[in-house]
Amino acid sequence: MIAILDFGGQYAHLIATRLRSFGVYTNNFDCDVSVDQLKNVQGIVLSGGPQSVFAEDALTMDSRIFELGVPVLAICFGHQLTSQMLGGVVSKGQKGEYGPAQLELLTDSDLFKSVAKTSRVWMSHFDEVTKVPTGFEVSASTSDCKIAAMEDKSRKIYGIQFHPEVIHSKEGTKILGNFVDICKQRNTWDLGSFIDDQCKLIQEKVADKKVFLLVSGGVDSSVAFALLEKALGEERVFGVFMDNGLLRYKEREKVQSSMKKAGFDNLHTEVCQDYFLDNLSNQFEPEAKRKIIGNSFLEVQKQIVARLDLNPEKWLLGQGTIYPDTIESGGTKNSHLIKTHHNRVPEIQKLIDAGKVIEPLADLYKDEVREVGRKLGLSNDMVDRHPFPGPGLGVRILCSDFTGNGVLSETKVHDLDVQILSIKSVGVQGDERTYKHPAVIYEQEQKLDWDNLDQISVKLVNESDQVNRVVYCLSHKSKQSFKAKESYVTKDRIIKLQKADLIAQEILHDYEQVENPETKVWQFPVVLLPLVTSAGDECIVLRPIWSQEAMTAEFARLPQVVLKKMSDEILKIDGIGAVFFDLTHKPPGTIEWE
Ligand code: XMP
Repeated sequence: MIAILDFGGQYAHLIATRLRSFGVYTNNFDCDVSVDQLKNVQGIVLSGGPQSVFAEDALTMDSRIFELGVPVLAICFGHQLTSQMLGGVVSKGQKGEYGPAQLELLTDSDLFKSVAKTSRVWMSHFDEVTKVPTGFEVSASTSDCKIAAMEDKSRKIYGIQFHPEVIHSKEGTKILGNFVDICKQRNTWDLGSFIDDQCKLIQEKVADKKVFLLVSGGVDSSVAFALLEKALGEERVFGVFMDNGLLRYKEREKVQSSMKKAGFDNLHTEVCQDYFLDNLSNQFEPEAKRKIIGNSFLEVQKQIVARLDLNPEKWLLGQGTIYPDTIESGGTKNSHLIKTHHNRVPEIQKLIDAGKVIEPLADLYKDEVREVGRKLGLSNDMVDRHPFPGPGLGVRILCSDFTGNGVLSETKVHDLDVQILSIKSVGVQGDERTYKHPAVIYEQEQKLDWDNLDQISVKLVNESDQVNRVVYCLSHKSKQSFKAKESYVTKDRIIKLQKADLIAQEILHDYEQVENPETKVWQFPVVLLPLVTSAGDECIVLRPIWSQEAMTAEFARLPQVVLKKMSDEILKIDGIGAVFFDLTHKPPGTIEWE
């Protein structure tokens, strides 16, 4: 087994998933695990984490772990901690490094066997190692981080500042595979038994009870539904689809027909649009909205239980929660809250603590859930749908409690005009939640040179502590005088966003059908901002991304003609006055805007 010590990094579980793909069994431990529990492991990975080693209550671990004599791979915070514990120097960073960077290898290293001399890696850090401990050498650098990798060859201790576990580190998987080889663990374990193991666990946990499952028609809840039915039989699983009014255009009809086609006959529909909208009126703060939506789901579920006269003692609540939902909700011991997913609000947390919730997919990532769905016989149409968040348009409709200037400041980068907007949205930097401003780039002659825009976007965020996102203005070529506008989740705004979303999704679908691009868009939020043009019309953001498991993402470089078509069509909607394209990776942005 390879042990992963979790310092609260957003990607600690992702490391496990990547290592498992090499056929090695892994287990995640809190970083304060006793050294005795690690006596029989063949390798140890130290994860990243949201803290600085300089924090007063900085996390640490038992230093005897370095004396176990097994290979150690220390990532990001783990790399800094290793340096500090073994006598090197860590310094507070000057500006931080988020998103892509070029890694250059400096020495021959087993960890970098067959890895290209220069390659793109993914960074998310502020502090950095500035002197290696005795016995270590520097094995790789980037332009902003001289000690991007270090190693003690004789003790097989490797420290790396970047994240090999995210797909955007081009050689990351190879590096992790090399570590598995250094530990001599390749092909010692197999994932195929997941479904059988889970069925047994579900039967044990549910015992003689039944399961009440909220089904959204998305990938996770559909796969959870199929898995629960396989384990318990149709009679013991009661699926409810709630139309809460925060769904895409005609989503209710689509889900009803696709679930029928997939052979689910026990799915019930509950229409509760007004209830959700009433609860959301006058709310603008993203976390407050999430909590209200999460609680509303639970309240409606309780109403159904009461109406059908079901004995609550005899029922468990089933959820299609997957791992990123838990980790981003601050659900592992040392991780930070990035956002509260609808299935992790305090009311549900109480039920979880009382043992009344069953979540058979809670340890998996989206790509693994899709694989399980296919193994259970669900159609590709169903398992390949883009993810859609439980709180739906409730988060994608950004709200504001004030009216005022929409632009905080203006500047120029590489000859392009840039405005920093006064509205804010959630992002994730260095494993922590941020709530900062977006910057807008204008281009007189719209060329959409992606490499250049990518660089500008990374530079703007890395160099400004005000900005966590960068968008490109598709609809105007020169600066606009935007106003922030007091606005909430209302029927009008939902309809407006549904129209824009439908246009964008249909144009994307047609483009992917016809051109069959090598990398398909993984998810495509379309967002409505509380920002208006001088004519009083609202602004839309297009946020297509490429990802594999939602923990990290790149903005999707769609062809200019496709984006132009989307923007032109969306501008025809009454009350829409500007269309932006999001140029932000995750980190520093999140996939959703809220
Ligand atoms: P972010 O925006 O954090 O999102 O990059 C990561 C993934 O999670 C989805 N998401 C949710 N899914 N309930 C869900 O089931 C939620 O409350 C929720 N919030 C975000 C998001 O769409 C993306 O795929």
